[in-house]
Amino acid sequence: MKINLNPDRDPQSRIIVAMDVPSVNQAIALCDRLPQVSFWKVGLELFVADGSTILRELKSRNKKIFLDLKLHDIPNTVGCACRAATKYGADFLTIHASGGKAMMQAAQSEVEGSSTQLLAISLLTSISASELASDLKVNIPVASYALQMVQLAQASGFTGAVCSPHEVTNLRSHLGDDFCLVTPGVRPTWSSSGDQSRVMTPQQAIAVGADYLVIGRPITTANDPVAAWDQICQECR
Ligand code: C5P
Repeated sequence: MKINLNPDRDPQSRIIVAMDVPSVNQAIALCDRLPQVSFWKVGLELFVADGSTILRELKSRNKKIFLDLKLHDIPNTVGCACRAATKYGADFLTIHASGGKAMMQAAQSEVEGSSTQLLAISLLTSISASELASDLKVNIPVASYALQMVQLAQASGFTGAVCSPHEVTNLRSHLGDDFCLVTPGVRPTWSSSGDQSRVMTPQQAIAVGADYLVIGRPITTANDPVAAWDQICQECR
């Protein structure tokens, strides 16, 4: 069954918690400490460490999975990786839009009919405007490049994209209401922003139209992760 792209107003269903830990044991401990969390993001580190184990553990607990692998390779290779991800029952899977339309279409055709939906990565937030221009020789503004990548993903049949909460309003105006926007870079006022710049609070991110929020450290490294989760859910209501 497809994920509901217009999640109800219940914030619990809109918050994806980033499981940024290095081992399966730590990941399982986190999951069991936060039984209220229904949607977890598994990133590259944990997936490379022992991906199949943690994905099976999450599925056995009836959790939704955001598999954040940021795939980028030739169309056949990415398509085959997407097919493998459907077997894990991943709900969201990320692909770099810069891999091009043929790659994205190959990816999309492999997930059709499954519960796995594809999200585009437009441009890594670690790449600055000057790096884009001087090293990568892309001579258009970052925002235009990001929009072009996301529009290519939409034309390839993707469900949505990962973006900053600050990009939601502009992307929404070009992509429409049916395109799913998932935003990291979210911080409650009481939590440290850490290495995230240009953050929004969960309440603000929902107000500008984000469909799902990805939140990691404000919950997972809090002294009391359950209290932090409860507080965030309350602030979103
Ligand atoms: O701990 P924090 O809330 O910053 O975690 C955010 C998560 O979202 C991390 O897993 C991070 O890798 C991911 N992410 C991000 N910024 C992006 C893309 C993904 O913070 N542009």
